[in-house]
Amino acid sequence: MTNRQSEISIFDQLLDHTKEINTLHMKDLFKNDPDRYEKFHLSAAGLLLDYSKNRITDKTLTLLIKMAEECHLKQAITDMFTGKRINTTENRPVLHIALRNRDNHPILVDGKDVMPEINRVLDKMHSFSDKIRNGSWLGATGKCITDVVNIGIGGSDLGPKMAIDALYYYKTDALNFRFVSNIDGTDIVETLKKCHPETTLFIISSKTFTTQETLTNAKTARSWLVEKLGEEAVSKHFVAVSTNTEGVRSFGIDPENMFEFWDFVGGRYSLWSAIGLSLMIAIGYDRFIDMLEGAYEMDKHFQEASFDQNMPVLMGLLGIWYTTYLGAESYAVLPYDEYLSRLPAYLQQLDMESNGKSIKKTGKSVDYKTGPILFGVAGTNGQHSFYQLIHQGTHLIPADFIAPIYSLNETGDHHDILLANFIAQPEALMKGKTPDELKAEGVKDELIPFKSFEGNRPSNTILFDKMTPRVLGALIALYEHKVFVEGVIWNIDSFDQWGVELGKQLAKAILPELKNKNQILEHDSSTNALIKIIREKRLK
Ligand code: F6P
Repeated sequence: MTNRQSEISIFDQLLDHTKEINTLHMKDLFKNDPDRYEKFHLSAAGLLLDYSKNRITDKTLTLLIKMAEECHLKQAITDMFTGKRINTTENRPVLHIALRNRDNHPILVDGKDVMPEINRVLDKMHSFSDKIRNGSWLGATGKCITDVVNIGIGGSDLGPKMAIDALYYYKTDALNFRFVSNIDGTDIVETLKKCHPETTLFIISSKTFTTQETLTNAKTARSWLVEKLGEEAVSKHFVAVSTNTEGVRSFGIDPENMFEFWDFVGGRYSLWSAIGLSLMIAIGYDRFIDMLEGAYEMDKHFQEASFDQNMPVLMGLLGIWYTTYLGAESYAVLPYDEYLSRLPAYLQQLDMESNGKSIKKTGKSVDYKTGPILFGVAGTNGQHSFYQLIHQGTHLIPADFIAPIYSLNETGDHHDILLANFIAQPEALMKGKTPDELKAEGVKDELIPFKSFEGNRPSNTILFDKMTPRVLGALIALYEHKVFVEGVIWNIDSFDQWGVELGKQLAKAILPELKNKNQILEHDSSTNALIKIIREKRLK
């Protein structure tokens, strides 16, 4: 008996059930049940999820839901929403949900309500973002800000960057927004070329305020400003978003110009916090609040809906079904909306940093597959590159197709064509095309194997009216909770990220070795050779 089987009594039944499912084709499931769509779709928080094109039957769902119950998912949801320390390896509560707790009910950590602090920072963001937007915050030489540069990486970059793109339609025209994340000097240098020191505001975003990339980029930006405007200009051109007041102070930013957040907000869940400051400046306070409202609506749905009517729960269970039981290794997220083009990159961190784990909460290794490899691009672009593999390759790749019914930029036939493709792809993946159908079309015998599509390839379809802050909030919260559901059932800590540490430590050790020709190298032969080649060229 594997240890997962001993933990979940339903595990064997689900494994057995895969044999049954592997004999079924979705095309037949649709043919035999005209109500399949009716049964397998639902709406919540402005989103419609059609999950009928999945390799499931009623029995699959019954078993998956039993598994969720057996894994105490309901209790786990309550624990998160009530501030229990569910991030066990870091001994922290997980309270990004408090940042969008729009009815403002108390959420207690160690007996203290976190809401007053959250509201205080939100008010501070409100007043600051208004000043930047209305031009009353002046730079050191008395000019209004025209360029906002967020310097951060990972969750301190991807969230606001993705959301400003997603809500670009609502962005003020008066300001440019730029993001610097990469330690590659090209990133900051090319960005600074586009900015003028008198009119640039830098937001240094780092939860820990120790991240090498962010601090190095921030120092370069600071030197650039100081060189042009002098030391006293810093307070008018630099603000920080962090949990680390001392780090901010010692960097040389007045804590008065700091927007706090807290350890209970994970980096990849921090868009809703002051990490969203650049976004609030871009779209304004009211729209930022709309985004929080959308997420809050999804939070309520997640807490209240029964599992069989619960969008994040169903999506999480489907994720587990494919990864753990049907052997899928990857997962495609395919937004048919140019505004959402950064969504896959954002979800890569959310999903893969959260569930890319192989150790259970008990400290033992898992003996089942956990988080998948997530990828995707916007619109029809992927159709002309990697969809070939999704349609006819040897991998099972469940995909989410996401689109707005109305474009914010209705232009000629564009949106109808986009939507036609958006509908056609899941249909093609599901139906496929048989040799008989090809024969009937007169396709030459020798080409029939190449032109056949086995179909039976699963997808979810997510539809919404049009891209708004509210919809974006609901969509992101949906994926956050989906990832949460999967983590609970896989019994892993979705809120730590120890896997990023080793590379950071080694880079710290290698840096002085690259800078000093005489330093003795004690790595493997490959690593030693690479260091030598680089330093011999660079230290001439
Ligand atoms: O190294 C990974 C990570 O810790 C992410 O989890 C985080 O979002 C990112 O680095 C940035 O961290 P910080 O906000 O502390 O600079």
